[in-house]
Amino acid sequence: MKKILIVGAGGQIGSELTMHLRGIYGNNNVVACDLKPNEKLGANGPFEILDALDAQGFAKLVKDHQIDAIYNLVALLSATGEKNPQLAWKINIGALMNTLEIAREYNCQCFTPSSIGAFGPSSPKDGTPQDTVMRPTTIYGVCKVLGEMLGDYYFQRFGVDARSVRFPGLISNVTLPGGGTTDYAVEVYYEAVKSKHFVCPIAPESYMDMMYMPDALNACVQLMEADPSKLVHRNSFNIASMSFTPEIIFANIKKYVPELTIEYNVDPVKQAIADSWPNSLDDSCAREEWGWNPKWDMDAMTQDMLKVIGEKHAKGLL
Ligand code: SER
Repeated sequence: MKKILIVGAGGQIGSELTMHLRGIYGNNNVVACDLKPNEKLGANGPFEILDALDAQGFAKLVKDHQIDAIYNLVALLSATGEKNPQLAWKINIGALMNTLEIAREYNCQCFTPSSIGAFGPSSPKDGTPQDTVMRPTTIYGVCKVLGEMLGDYYFQRFGVDARSVRFPGLISNVTLPGGGTTDYAVEVYYEAVKSKHFVCPIAPESYMDMMYMPDALNACVQLMEADPSKLVHRNSFNIASMSFTPEIIFANIKKYVPELTIEYNVDPVKQAIADSWPNSLDDSCAREEWGWNPKWDMDAMTQDMLKVIGEKHAKGLL
């Protein structure tokens, strides 16, 4: 069975991807690692402390656990990155380069997510094509474009099986994101359950692509298991499932929580980032090359988010 290492497993994606992959490949075949101890990730499978910038420690884990595939989920997100671009570069590119080099040395498959943030203001806004102008204006986006190019370079030059997707804003109910421009679309659900009031940092009419976490997890597995001979692209595939504005998602949540009130207090940094990103991506290459086919729409996601977060709230877990 494939042995997998998830680096940065304590974050929004990793905390769910670890459990998802353990369900598929077996608990002992999925090693989670993070900077900080994590009781949940250690409860049903191997967990190791790792600073992804420590190349020797990283390589040792890959060697000791005889890893076949590395998921590198280490990154400062877009808004945090703008507060300290030098640190964002150090962490995002440091973890990426260690992943690629270790994958080359130990012959591993690897996955480092890209993002809608890889596009910029000169990219086509609607139905943004797979192959088009990128030129992002955030350090996060610059790192993502470089990650895509290096992934393809390592594949062509060294035969490293690097694959990746451009994730939209991911909406989930296990671990909160932090420092992203799309975070509002997660936070509003928590406030809809807890305080019934949400202060939104993004203007009401700003469209961005979003996705419910279960579809994002399936995308990872489907792409990593896809027949390589069918892949025309590799780093990275546009994937999409829904695109909405704050106004649209809040109206949808209010169907189930009519007492929810919204106040707008636009954060100029986040708004400038949102304005520089696409409204919606064209994901036809992912559909053709590896069968991408998301299952969740906005309304089904809203019902599920409110149910899960409501249950946690009732148990006093929030
Ligand atoms: N969710 C990320 C962010 O907002 C984009 O990939 O930074």
